[in-house]
Amino acid sequence: MAASSDNAGNASSEGPSLRTVVCGLSLPSCVFNSSNPFATSLEDLQALDASAAGAVATRTACPGFVHDEATMKWASPDGANTINCLGYSPLPFEYYTGCLPQLSGAKPCWLSISGSAEEVGAMVREAAALAPSLPGGLAVEINLSCPNIAGKPPLAYDFDALRDYLGTVFAAGPPPPTLAVGVKTTPYFYDAQYTGAAAVLNGCPHLSFVTAINTVGNGLYVDVATEAPLLAPSCYGGLGGAAVHAIALGNVRRLRALLRPSIAVIGCGGAAFRHLLCGASAVMVASALLHEGVGVFARVEAELRGIMASKGYSAWADQGGLEACRKDGEWVFVPPVLCDPRREGEEVPARYSIAFFCNPNKATLVQCLPGCSGEGNPPRYAPINAFEYITRRLCGTIDDPITGQGHRRGE
Ligand SMILES: Cc1cc2nc3c(=O)[nH]c(=O)nc-3n(C[C@H](O)[C@H](O)[C@H](O)COP(=O)(O)O)c2cc1C
Repeated sequence: MAASSDNAGNASSEGPSLRTVVCGLSLPSCVFNSSNPFATSLEDLQALDASAAGAVATRTACPGFVHDEATMKWASPDGANTINCLGYSPLPFEYYTGCLPQLSGAKPCWLSISGSAEEVGAMVREAAALAPSLPGGLAVEINLSCPNIAGKPPLAYDFDALRDYLGTVFAAGPPPPTLAVGVKTTPYFYDAQYTGAAAVLNGCPHLSFVTAINTVGNGLYVDVATEAPLLAPSCYGGLGGAAVHAIALGNVRRLRALLRPSIAVIGCGGAAFRHLLCGASAVMVASALLHEGVGVFARVEAELRGIMASKGYSAWADQGGLEACRKDGEWVFVPPVLCDPRREGEEVPARYSIAFFCNPNKATLVQCLPGCSGEGNPPRYAPINAFEYITRRLCGTIDDPITGQGHRRGE
């Protein structure tokens, strides 16, 4: 079984809209590819462009990276999960900046990059120059999370280094409004990791999204027939697919709760609908794309629409970004219901709220209607003048500015 929209609902190309807006970029669908080998060549990117994917993400380009075909590979034990000991793309950054203008421009491009802070800073500036020429818009995803680079543990686990790194990336100034810049994070597993990462990411004002998660590092599948690692001659690798879905959801949910609202969280790892419930603004897919090819997007989207329709959701964008503050102070993602106080993520399309107040003239006496009370059924409230009633209600919402005493009933 490959990634699915939680294996429920009816497949249908009609139904709820999956269109969404992430970091100001308009996506025809909230489901698109994450960085992986299916996004390596121009042909790959053109196939993604022509598919039902909501955006086209590239494989990570990293200056100086040398790909070794003999030892760097990916494999699948079962058609649902993946393990890989790949590093980055064999092709350079310039290859991808050359590819993107050749795509249709009907959807945004997601340019994945990695490297030293200076290198990444320079690539971000080049991407900023390219962005206005791409009709669908451009996002740059800084990959801080590849678990497979010998001698270079993922920077997303080292919060002091991460803070310095981001400072250097943006030392020349913020990206222009035409370029969304975000980071791809490692899977986090315990509280201090979440709070440490969120503190650094919230402290960088130039980030507009976080993609969670990259693969779960240092997995090992052993082939029973050969009694050798599936990745032989390599041994360990990053895990993706159904096996990491619950870890991905935990990361999306925790990061959504901890990151400032202007940072969109993009879910990556397993099925789509649960990512929505956990607060993801969009969902990226890698392992299922490797298994199924670009047809995976139409399948996942049809399943997602089916689930949403069966639950009465009209659009993904209606769900994304609406959160409610619980009594314990934690912001939680909710379907659109009335709750107070509320906040909306900046990436959500504009909503219009119209407040309508209706009061009687101030001299009006408001009292129980004739025929609504009688013997054994007295009026529940005494008659009251409309002006007096409104004044009492207004006073009930504030404390006396001089005495500090509450005007509220009982205080
Ligand atoms: C074979 C393979 C190669 C990958 N290469 C990259 C990469 O170059 N850059 C990156 O950011 N993530 C890379 N990933 C991680 C995926 O983008 C994704 O974060 C992870 O696999 C979880 O998603 P999934 O469950 O849909 O596979 C790769 C994943 C796989 C399976």
